[in-house]
Amino acid sequence: MKDHLFRQIGQTITNRIERGELKPGDKLPSVRSLALELGVHRLTVFKAYQQLKHRGSVTVVDKSGYYVKEDASPLVGLDYPVVSSYVHKSHLSEIHRIHADYQFSQAVIDPDLLPNQYTSSSAKHVLDLYPKVFSTYAAVQGDSELRDYLSHYFYQNQKQLASPEEILIASGSQQAIDLIARVLVRRGDTVLIERPTYSAAIDVFHNIGARLLTADLTAEGYNLVQIEKLMKEYRPRLFYSNPTFQNPTGYTVPLEQRKQLVDLAEKYQVFLLEDDAFRDIYFADKPPLPLSSYDVHGHCIYVRSFSKYIAPGLRIAAVVCREPLMQQLLAAKSLMDNGTPLLNQKLFLHYFRSDRLQQHIEKLRTALEIRKEVMETSLADQQLTWESPSGGLNLWVRVPDAINMDRLLAECLTHSLSFVPGTICDPLKKQEHWVRLSYSFMNEQKIKEGITRFKDILKKLNKEII
Ligand SMILES: Cc1ncc(COP(=O)(O)O)c(C=O)c1O
Repeated sequence: MKDHLFRQIGQTITNRIERGELKPGDKLPSVRSLALELGVHRLTVFKAYQQLKHRGSVTVVDKSGYYVKEDASPLVGLDYPVVSSYVHKSHLSEIHRIHADYQFSQAVIDPDLLPNQYTSSSAKHVLDLYPKVFSTYAAVQGDSELRDYLSHYFYQNQKQLASPEEILIASGSQQAIDLIARVLVRRGDTVLIERPTYSAAIDVFHNIGARLLTADLTAEGYNLVQIEKLMKEYRPRLFYSNPTFQNPTGYTVPLEQRKQLVDLAEKYQVFLLEDDAFRDIYFADKPPLPLSSYDVHGHCIYVRSFSKYIAPGLRIAAVVCREPLMQQLLAAKSLMDNGTPLLNQKLFLHYFRSDRLQQHIEKLRTALEIRKEVMETSLADQQLTWESPSGGLNLWVRVPDAINMDRLLAECLTHSLSFVPGTICDPLKKQEHWVRLSYSFMNEQKIKEGITRFKDILKKLNKEII
């Protein structure tokens, strides 16, 4: 664990340099004061600083301390500079890579809640149905049988008109967002993004070199006056929106704002990239129709992941958009991977249209709602506040202002508990009093134990402040 700790400290400093929070020439905290602040041994901090020095991101000035190097490029801290020097790293996947007994950072569904038996036994059936599935390349746009089915499904379920030619199958919505960003956004372009938001989407746009503008999202939805002002003044290339049971907040943009938002996109010629990963995970009423169902002139690009509640391992998502954008996406997709594996698409289709899916999803909603309630009951404390979500996988919780987020994360990781700090969900990196706790990955018992541990750590940090 100690070995991990010095790497974590080094990585946190590297992240700050990358984000521009620490600038060339800035002095790092003294070894002593940082060790005290983090509650670790001085040698651990010393080792982290030495590693950064060795990598060329900090320098030592005799009798003065450690400084960020003048020529420290934002990417100096990467382990394999030759391989990854042009890739902006994913902060979320870094947190996920750290092992924790209490994983509240993963917004994925506990595999025990997914129909593993059924999917594996139906795999044999699918292979019998399509004996040449291994011997055939998938079409770049995706399997036509699946696109036909989805075209029908989108119309039936969400009044969304999309012909099979207007649907592309991607290997997960993460790939879809990246694909769309590559096609539409160039370095220096302005992108409007909600705040807070899905942190891997921030990473995609940063990676491409976009300038990010932010639109506030609250439990009441967007501020359309603010959005119109930003669209009018900056003419962003696109607006990334996750309007239904949003990650990380769980908020849903109300029906009455949806059409107005599409009207604004049309008025200012902005693409609306709607990321709809959680639509089917609702606890009471069905959510409002997607923004894209109000689209008349082709300003919406709809991305629908099926990872969350069917089979994350299959990596299936659909992108819906009009011509000529579809042709551009197809060109980019063929450069990327020449098409999503056919076997995955057939396995997905077989399950997606089965009666079994409906039974599964109803049970899943109940199981997730119970987990959410267990987390809320365990969290109950005057100092913690959140808006109870009516769908999705996360609680977005405000912790007391006096708590230092880096310290809270380090302390939780030391106690084998992980969560997502609000700062990485904020394009401005300022939401430092918020945490995202996912209730979907741990069972009820683990949720109770983990949240007790989380509150104990908060209490300990609170006492130190007083
Ligand atoms: C809002 C949002 N979009 C996209 C994704 C990526 O999903 P996929 O597994 O389809 O790549 C996630 C995953 O957590 C998400 O929360």
